[in-house]
Amino acid sequence: MIRVYENEDITKHYVEFRPRFQECVVERVLKFCNEYREFANKHELMVDVACGSGQATSAFQNNFKHIVGIDISPNQIKEARLANEHDNIKYEVGTAENIPLEESSVDLLVSATACHRFDLGKFFTEAKRVMKPDGCMALFSYNAPTIIPKNVKVSARRQELSDRTSSLLLKFHEIVTDKQSNFYLDGKYENIYKAVPAENKQWITEDLVMKYDWNLEQLIGFLRSNASYQEYMKMMKEEHKDASEEEVKKWDRAVLLRDFVKREWEMEEVKDEDVMMEAHFHVFLVLANNLK
Ligand SMILES: C[S@@+](CC[C@H](N)C(=O)[O-])C[C@H]1O[C@@H](n2cnc3c(N)ncnc32)[C@H](O)[C@@H]1O
Repeated sequence: MIRVYENEDITKHYVEFRPRFQECVVERVLKFCNEYREFANKHELMVDVACGSGQATSAFQNNFKHIVGIDISPNQIKEARLANEHDNIKYEVGTAENIPLEESSVDLLVSATACHRFDLGKFFTEAKRVMKPDGCMALFSYNAPTIIPKNVKVSARRQELSDRTSSLLLKFHEIVTDKQSNFYLDGKYENIYKAVPAENKQWITEDLVMKYDWNLEQLIGFLRSNASYQEYMKMMKEEHKDASEEEVKKWDRAVLLRDFVKREWEMEEVKDEDVMMEAHFHVFLVLANNLK
C-alpha cells in the first residue's frame, strides 16, 4: 500500500489547490446509474473511496441521502472534516481494501484520481461486498490539465504558448508521478476498464472538460499538491544536502515551470497572482453496474 498523503504540509496544500469536481461529472455518472436503476427519489448511500479532502465527495451532495468519504490518510480526513459544510456527508479513515461499511449497503461507489494506486484485485472484491447487487461504481480521473493563457491577444501566439506550457506541465507531472499511476493515467483508465469485473460497464473518454480560471500561483500549487512531487523533492534534498538555492532551482519542477511561464509569456514584471489562465481538465471515467 502506497502511503504518500500522510504529512500535514501535503494535505493542507492539497485542500487548497486540488480542483473540486464539477457538475458535468456528477451528471455523467448519474446518467449511467439511471440507465440501469430506477431511483424514485434521492439515492440512499454513496461512498467516495480515497476521498482526499472531499474533492469529489461534496459534488454529489444533492443526490444522496447519506455520503461517506473514506481515506487511508488521517490528515486528509482531518482537512475534509474542516472543509465540510453538509450534514449528509461524513468522513472516516478507511481503505479501499477494507471499507468501513455494511455489506450490500452502497448505491454508488465512486473513486476519483486514486484507484490507479490501489491493489485493484482486493479493491474490486471489497467494492462488491459493500455495494448493493444492482449498485453502480464510477472510477474517474484526469491527467495534467491543458493551460490556456489569458491576456495574450494574438490567437496563434496564445495557441503556441498553450501547447508548450501544457506539454511542459504534463512532462513535469509524469516525472514526479509513480510508474503504476502513469501507466493507468496515460491510457485514460483503459486497463482499469478491462479489469473491472462487472456485468455492465462503460469507458468514457468523450470530451468531458472541467474549466477553471487560475492564476500562476494556482498552477504552481496544483503541481506541488501532487504527493509524488513532495516525495521527489524530499529525496533530492536528502541527496543534495549542501545544495545552494540556485542548484535547487535546477531540479525543482515547480520553480522551473514558474520561470518558464514568466519568461515565455513575457510576464516577468507581472505578479504571479495576476498572471491569468484557464485550466482545462479532461476527465475520463470507468462506469460499472452489477459487479461480478
Ligand atoms: C490523488 S489523491 C485523490 C483525492 C481526491 N479523491 C481527489 O480526487 O482529489 C489520492 C488519495 O488516495 C488516498 N489513498 C491512497 N491509497 C489508498 C487506499 N488504499 N485506500 C484509501 N485511500 C487511499 C490518499 O491518501 C489520497 O488522499
